Amino acid sequence: MPTSKIAGIGCYIPENKVTNEDLKQYMETTDEWIQERTGIRERHYAHRTKETTTTMAVEASKIAIERAGITALDIDFIVFATLSPDYYFPGCGVLVQRALQMKEIGALDIRNQCSGFVYALSVADQFIKTGMYKNILVIGSEKHSFGLDFSTRGRNVSVLFGDGAGAVVLQATEKEGQGIISTHLHSDGQSAELLAMYNPGTHANHWVKEPVADYTDAAIGEMFMSEQMIDKAQNFPFMDGPAVFKKAIVKFPEVIMEALTKNRLTTADITILIPHQANLRISQFVQQKLALRNDQVFNNIQHYGNTTAASIPIALCEAWQQGKIKEGDLVCMAAFGSGFTWASALVRW
Ligand code: COA
Repeated sequence: MPTSKIAGIGCYIPENKVTNEDLKQYMETTDEWIQERTGIRERHYAHRTKETTTTMAVEASKIAIERAGITALDIDFIVFATLSPDYYFPGCGVLVQRALQMKEIGALDIRNQCSGFVYALSVADQFIKTGMYKNILVIGSEKHSFGLDFSTRGRNVSVLFGDGAGAVVLQATEKEGQGIISTHLHSDGQSAELLAMYNPGTHANHWVKEPVADYTDAAIGEMFMSEQMIDKAQNFPFMDGPAVFKKAIVKFPEVIMEALTKNRLTTADITILIPHQANLRISQFVQQKLALRNDQVFNNIQHYGNTTAASIPIALCEAWQQGKIKEGDLVCMAAFGSGFTWASALVRW
């Protein structure tokens, strides 16, 4: 049975760097507050009109494809993870297929927010293991800056997020002991509303009691996105930060240990852990809990903020570019986020 190796990796960071100090022109915040609570010093925002989630993904994909030593015509399938798609529908996968002038291959979009890339990797891995595809383009990309509340009202969320993209070419290999060893996917919908963007949506307050506007009198066509929702800032993401933090610090170590235990490995076997870059304090907590050395954990949230589905492939790409990942190394990726969903993947590079 073939396994899936990461044959090429690429990332794209938009040029426009926004420091914590820069954010003070929009909201009441301080560099000190942001750094102390999150470790973030700066993030990058895509160009307002010239860059989209898909255009950034295309740039990252071109690099990944080139590094894999193939062309876009060799790609058999696309899996695209994002929560900030160019359109509500269709998904970004088909836009990549068009932009890279690929064959009429399948394109699948994944909506698993911060866990999106690990979920995408897992889905692609199954297609390769069954022999259905040989080269799959797996992408995580986000343009958060288009839809955050930059007033003081939204500061607990908006300071955390940044834009960017990462992509890998997952390729079938027969080489013994190389590639994805296992992936582990989980969810618990009990807390779905604690980290969510409710609108535009069809929920009509069915699930959400507070703080969604009462729009029962809205005209039927307005229920998807009404002026009232915009007035009450309900077209922006909502997050109960402390609740997310508490759950994340339990689920991150749990899903990493699940992957190791399943494969009779220990934390000492990990060459490098690439945690989803949610908050440096979360990563540090996980590192401490698992007694990992500094060189075993890669963080770059200081420079990019939380780029959701793009955070793992961007971090993986940077770690690889810095020579921190070599053939034979054991790489562990782990993510936690909205849903809640959480996931891990173990890869022998
Ligand atoms: N600048 C300054 N003050 C801010 C602020 C900002 N950007 N954002 C919030 N505050 C204020 C709050 O208004 C609150 O003020 P109050 O005490 O006067 O009411 C105070 O800071 C504390 O807010 P709180 O939300 O309790 O802070 P916290 O210590 O929990 O830190 C997070 C907030 C968001 C950094 C933290 O909860 C977190 O990282 N959670 C996980 C988030 C995450 O990982 N999300 C992505 C999931 S993958």
